[in-house]
Amino acid sequence: MDLLGMYPTFYVPAIGTAWVMGIIGVIHVVASHTSVGASFLFALLETKAYRDGTPEIMGFIKKYGMFLLVFSYVIGSVTGPGIWYAITVASPRGVGGLIHNFVWVWAAEWVYFTVEVIGVYALVYLIGKVDAKTHLKLTWSFALASWATMLLIVGILSFMMWPGSENWYQTGSTNDAFYNLNFFAHLATRTGSMFVMAAVVGLMVASRVRDPVLRRSVVRFIAPIGLVGGLFAVMMFIYYLQTLPNNAVVMLNTYLLPVYARAMVAVFVVATAWLVFAWWQPQRVYTPLAVALFLFIAVAGVWPEERMRESMRKPYVAGQYIYGNQIIARNVPGKGIRSEMEQIAAAGLLQLHPFVPKPLRTVTADNRLATGRLLTQIACANCHALERGAPLRSLPDKLHGATDEDLIAAFLQGPLKHGTQPYMPRIDLPAPEIDAIAHFIAAVNRGEDVTAQPTPSTATAAASQPE
Ligand code: HEC
Repeated sequence: MDLLGMYPTFYVPAIGTAWVMGIIGVIHVVASHTSVGASFLFALLETKAYRDGTPEIMGFIKKYGMFLLVFSYVIGSVTGPGIWYAITVASPRGVGGLIHNFVWVWAAEWVYFTVEVIGVYALVYLIGKVDAKTHLKLTWSFALASWATMLLIVGILSFMMWPGSENWYQTGSTNDAFYNLNFFAHLATRTGSMFVMAAVVGLMVASRVRDPVLRRSVVRFIAPIGLVGGLFAVMMFIYYLQTLPNNAVVMLNTYLLPVYARAMVAVFVVATAWLVFAWWQPQRVYTPLAVALFLFIAVAGVWPEERMRESMRKPYVAGQYIYGNQIIARNVPGKGIRSEMEQIAAAGLLQLHPFVPKPLRTVTADNRLATGRLLTQIACANCHALERGAPLRSLPDKLHGATDEDLIAAFLQGPLKHGTQPYMPRIDLPAPEIDAIAHFIAAVNRGEDVTAQPTPSTATAAASQPE
């Protein structure tokens, strides 16, 4: 029998790989949106300085540029590759799918990123060393290269949500994948919010400017840009919500908005109030206040946004054809990809998954707990924590602490097998595998030690081929 091209499951207790990704992602989004937004603030400020003949503004740009170099660029460059490492272990097939669509888009992104990084160094160190007009051109090139990196990554991220039409499944073309239904709305939302981040960080930098006249002119310039960016982001976010697939809309209304809506409104109100206050009282923009508000807006604003985007995509990780648990859910003729659902329903995961230890290839009375644990990790753990009370949609809690194996098996035989929950993958397994999963979850709920191995001598055997 042919094995499926699956990889080992990487499981992080309690929070799952999903939250690991989320935490790295939030840090990255704060750093990257700040730097892209700041690049445009610099370009606009410098244009103003050039037109009005106010070279002292360059002092502020230098200060902000240094701050970006030390914080955003270091943090952004460390967390950016960190995201790809994290998702490669969390969703190897998801990443594989993206690479097969977007390898040249990534290459282009890397080129623009290189221009961006060299640009920020050049921009900071060449202030006063080259003539004003040349420097202005440099700053605008830096801004456009920065935004290009965002544009290219957003094309990939929005394809992860869905291609939005049947085209891509038939053609498999990069264009159909990249210019998907929610690309423009997503790009516009991020473009608006990058100005908010850049303005809020700009206020921290401005709070260190001693000269009251300079501080006033800078704050009064960047605060309105942040306000307009925020308003634009909200409008574009509403438009973005109209471009989502049905499963995302269900997820949003059932699970996400009830939890995150308040935080989102709070962030919008606080950010608006803060920017208006700063415009009105530039001299009262104190550093501790500016730092506290930055932290609040960064954490309470970006975490819900990133969590929502990741969660709404469920049950898929990419293009509505790869499930979160790495199983291929449908045919993609344009890429020669075939659904694995029927094969798994017939033969089971234990026989088809390449990384199953030999003694666990078949469910037996002795190994039911161990096979159940392995199957639950493969089939469910990408989206559910396996411990009681854990923050990532704890599976034992979702089943209300049930200890009745038949009841749990009935859920697996019913809604899961037939895919009735739009936000969950269809998981159709042979009866012995379903029973093993039910056996394992019931044992967790009874508080038993579920890490016990069946027969220690054989259970540690390395990955092996099925008989
Ligand atoms: C691709 C992600 C994903 C996978 C894989 C997955 N689930 Fe879920 N599951 C979800 C989401 C999303 C919810 C909605 C609940 C939430 O977000 O809090 C959910 C909810 C549930 C619920 C609560 C019922 C409901 O409709 O809200 C149960 C029970 C459940 N899952 C069991 C399982 C089991 C058992 C497996 C493995 C055999 C599994 N899930 C695999 C994403 C997934």
